[in-house]
Amino acid sequence: MVVPYKHEPFLDFTVEENKQQMLDAIAKVEADLGKEYPLIIGGERIFTEDKIVSVNPSNKEEVIGYVSKANKELAEKAMKVADERFQNYWRISDPKFRADILFRAAAIVRRRKHEFNAHLVKEAGKPWKEADGETAEAIDFLEFYGRQMLKLKDGMPVNSRPIEHNRFDYIPLGVGLVISPWNFSFAIMAGTAVAAMVTGNTVLLKPASVTPVVAYKFMEVLEEAGMPAGIINYIPGPGSEVGDYLVNHPRTRFISFTGSREVGLNIFENAAKIQPGQIWLKRTILEMGGKDTIVVDKEADLELAAQSIVQSAFGFSGQKCSACSRAVIHEDVYDQVKDRIVELTKELTVGDPTENLYMGPVIDQGSYDKIMKYIEIGKEEGNLLVGGTGDDSKGWFINPTVIADLDPKARIMQEEIFGPVVGLTKAKDFTEAIEIANNTEFGLTGAVITNNREHLEQARRDFHVGNLYFNRGCTAAIVGYQPFGGFNMSGTDSKAGGPDYLIQHMQGKTTSEML
Ligand code: SER
Repeated sequence: MVVPYKHEPFLDFTVEENKQQMLDAIAKVEADLGKEYPLIIGGERIFTEDKIVSVNPSNKEEVIGYVSKANKELAEKAMKVADERFQNYWRISDPKFRADILFRAAAIVRRRKHEFNAHLVKEAGKPWKEADGETAEAIDFLEFYGRQMLKLKDGMPVNSRPIEHNRFDYIPLGVGLVISPWNFSFAIMAGTAVAAMVTGNTVLLKPASVTPVVAYKFMEVLEEAGMPAGIINYIPGPGSEVGDYLVNHPRTRFISFTGSREVGLNIFENAAKIQPGQIWLKRTILEMGGKDTIVVDKEADLELAAQSIVQSAFGFSGQKCSACSRAVIHEDVYDQVKDRIVELTKELTVGDPTENLYMGPVIDQGSYDKIMKYIEIGKEEGNLLVGGTGDDSKGWFINPTVIADLDPKARIMQEEIFGPVVGLTKAKDFTEAIEIANNTEFGLTGAVITNNREHLEQARRDFHVGNLYFNRGCTAAIVGYQPFGGFNMSGTDSKAGGPDYLIQHMQGKTTSEML
């Protein structure tokens, strides 16, 4: 038996001791920068000539690490190892043995929490609070999925007649390809990789190319926790080469992907094509984008509304699929809420997150250029109230930007920007506000700020998103408390951190014995 799951508490950085530990950890991570990292295939460390250069998005000159880069041959080698380890070992391993690796890994990460937080500050440009939330989420995934596996290990009860004994068990699928994102380069990477592994599958882990070092550090944690060689294989590399090759591989059994809609749809389509020698239908677990809306009613706590919008829009510079990128506000309170959003946004600090400011940089030049282009579009489509400027001379910094008076069909209100930009529009009543909130192709998160109970129930019924929040912001789902995943073009609604997440990595097998 294990103690019941409870989420990892967050650190309070106003406490001097926590602040000092974080500063010490940042100094320690800085002293360790610029190292070379190998691939890990079957436990073997493989250094390649060609390297991925991971840089600090606050300071492009600062190299976090030089990470070996897989290619098709190395991807094939990893597939062979993973396939062999699956068939001969991992698929018949004891689920308790697997879960114990997750529990030990959680304990190791907890002990090294400041170091992981500091690493996320440097490699992903995360402000302290966001980094700490992410490390806590990684611990939560380990603790939660370990426990979930213990619940599933004996299958589910089914009926038997007097002449027979029936059983329904979950068995693993095979080799899973896990492609993880840069915006939660630790938590989502760890969560998706261990969910696949604890269920008895072997894994090919291809972390995002801009944030590969944290995934290497996590591999070391798993090894220390007792994960045998070849169970999760670490193979960073270009999506166009390694990703495509493995998505199309006939021995790939499932793909767990978190990232953009464009890449997700490509994976979905390619995974559906049966390759020569392939004897199964590949399963896909896809978490894609969002265009998430906060609806503000006229009978509402307007201060809470403005705070929720600003925090959900600009936390981690809006680089979350759950971020609020649109607010739909009842016309009677529109001006009041808009003015308060502007005031709050002007108070936000932007800069190098080692200094614990509210907002850090965006992840890279490509993101910077894309977001700045959207700001230009926004200036034409609506009224720029605050922000709109950026500076990419040293790092990729963009000021929090509010664009108001937009048409609900404007591009700023429809397309995922993935940066610190929020669009505002007004609705004549609550029903129209919900209609506007639903008028994108996505369906990930949303929030409603109202004191009207009937309107809450209307939203519960009609606001079509996977994660709907009332009288709070629309980000920061907690593992095991708010299972996370979206509808429509936001993905397969796989609900990370939820009670049925692990089952998607397994298949049900019925056995019936005549007595
Ligand atoms: N789970 C995160 C959130 O809820 C996004 O990936 O903000």
